[in-house]
Amino acid sequence: MAGASAQPAWAQALAAVGLLVASRAATRLALWLYAAFLRPAKPLRRRYGAWAVVTGATDGIGRALAFELAAAGLGLVLVGRSPDKLAAVSKEVSARFPGAEVRTFVIDFAADGLAASVAALAESIRGLDVGVLVNNAGHGYPYARYFHEVDEELRRNLIRLNVEAVTRMTHAVLPGMVERKRGAVVNIGSGAASIMPSTPLYTVYAATKAYADQFSRSLYVEYKNKGIDVQCQVPMYVATKMASIRQASLFAPSPETYARAAVRYIGYEPRCAPYWPHALLWFLFSVVPEPLVDGYVLGMSLGIRKMGRAKEARKKAV
Ligand SMILES: NC(=O)c1ccc[n+]([C@@H]2O[C@H](COP(=O)([O-])OP(=O)(O)OC[C@H]3O[C@@H](n4cnc5c(N)ncnc54)[C@H](OP(=O)(O)O)[C@@H]3O)[C@@H](O)[C@H]2O)c1
Repeated sequence: MAGASAQPAWAQALAAVGLLVASRAATRLALWLYAAFLRPAKPLRRRYGAWAVVTGATDGIGRALAFELAAAGLGLVLVGRSPDKLAAVSKEVSARFPGAEVRTFVIDFAADGLAASVAALAESIRGLDVGVLVNNAGHGYPYARYFHEVDEELRRNLIRLNVEAVTRMTHAVLPGMVERKRGAVVNIGSGAASIMPSTPLYTVYAATKAYADQFSRSLYVEYKNKGIDVQCQVPMYVATKMASIRQASLFAPSPETYARAAVRYIGYEPRCAPYWPHALLWFLFSVVPEPLVDGYVLGMSLGIRKMGRAKEARKKAV
């Protein structure tokens, strides 16, 4: 005690601030460890309702999420653009979970007339106890490119799928949830917008995913006290066709591994990276100075652009 009082006041103040910062960091770490490894998933059917609507359910993350949601006892409305792929997923879900209720609905979110097709989907699910909506269908770049190289069609598809479809689908499904006073909306955003300080050469993609982030964050506050949990999940790389990654790894998991983690997070934090190595990357990127991250990502994107252009040139040559 005598030793402590011998310290000058500024040193004592500094020690107190240090203690506060360290205990805040320790609390955050403990909460994250609990959420990532120990916290039970919400009982989705009981808590939110009997059905889940999943967009882009024919491949990658959406397809894997559909199986996880069926495993959680939810009926499925699978939404996609390919009737054949929808039928195949539906058949596979029914085979793996006998008794599971599965419906399909065909929409091409990039096509004209989106308002009418989403209205038709809303009509087809009228009266269903839709507890969970997953806005997963998304559009990416074929490969990295400067903004002035992004043509009209690519810009339009990115905005239609990543912004307009998410907004329309949520607007179609929310009223039923409000009426029933329960529901969960999961928007699949991206680390490109919510984790990275910038994503050069994927600018329109990242900007549309920033929409999903802020759209979800505000809706979370708007509907929390109406019993509806809105969330933006922000994956980093997942080994899917969109990411052009064939081989899963620790930091680019298979869609199945990602989906297992994703379902455990539904209904909790409004913005989250459910797969723990992605959360670790989030932390690392948050402590590295932004200009360093910017430079690293620009270098990576330029490399991808170079390879993409070479591949395109080879295709044109044959
Ligand atoms: N993979 C990653 O590294 C990563 C990282 C961050 C965020 N995300 C996000 O995760 C979500 C899922 O991506 P993913 O990697 O699983 O991609 P994916 O494997 O390419 O699957 C995309 C799904 O969306 C569907 N889809 C594409 N265009 C469509 C359209 N015009 N109309 C209706 N459905 C359409 C696809 O249908 P088809 O089967 O007919 O092609 C497929 O079911 C996206 O929102 C993406 O931005 C992915």
